[in-house]
Amino acid sequence: MLKIGVMASGGGSNFKAIIDHIGEGDLEAQCKFLITNNGTCGAVAHAQEYGIPVYHISGKTHPVVAEYEAALLDVIDRYDIDLLILAGYMKALPVSIVRRLPDRILNIHPSLLPKFGGKGFWGIHVHEAVIAAHEKESGPTVHLVSEEIDKGRILAQVKVPVLEDDTPEVLAARVLVQEHNLYWKTIRDYAAQL
Ligand code: GRF
Repeated sequence: MLKIGVMASGGGSNFKAIIDHIGEGDLEAQCKFLITNNGTCGAVAHAQEYGIPVYHISGKTHPVVAEYEAALLDVIDRYDIDLLILAGYMKALPVSIVRRLPDRILNIHPSLLPKFGGKGFWGIHVHEAVIAAHEKESGPTVHLVSEEIDKGRILAQVKVPVLEDDTPEVLAARVLVQEHNLYWKTIRDYAAQL
């Protein structure tokens, strides 16, 4: 059985979609933990609802960088996970974690990478930039996490149209629906090759 751990900071809709597909038997996996840097985010509420252990590890709980990294590694090493899933984790992952799990960390990004990725491209800013550049299409990318932000190997993408009167929020919602369809399938397909 595939064992995953999830890291999230926000509403947690991708996290919830993954756990729901596990619950429905579409994705044969166990989610061992949620690590968050925001103890009051939506993802925490979802984890509690499903009885998944939550670890709140942030610059506030661990102000010393080395202790922050050690706390993350401690959780990751405690569970024998096959994959670490970033589901809206809004902080760059320390290089020590990336090196601990080579080719075993997946992220979802709300643009067609390599476009609109890297520093500054997060959350609504991604969609603002897509609209400002008059792109005709956008969509989520699932990729492996490497030491350079948003530069790891692309595993899957889905395209959606960008419409004339789209606001960043409307486009974000259209992309998010596709994220929920794409992430669990990509986890399943990638895990099958391990
Ligand atoms: C998604 O748009 C994802 O692509 C990005 O962060 C957002 C997380 O949304 N990395 P949610 O917390 O899963 O609802």
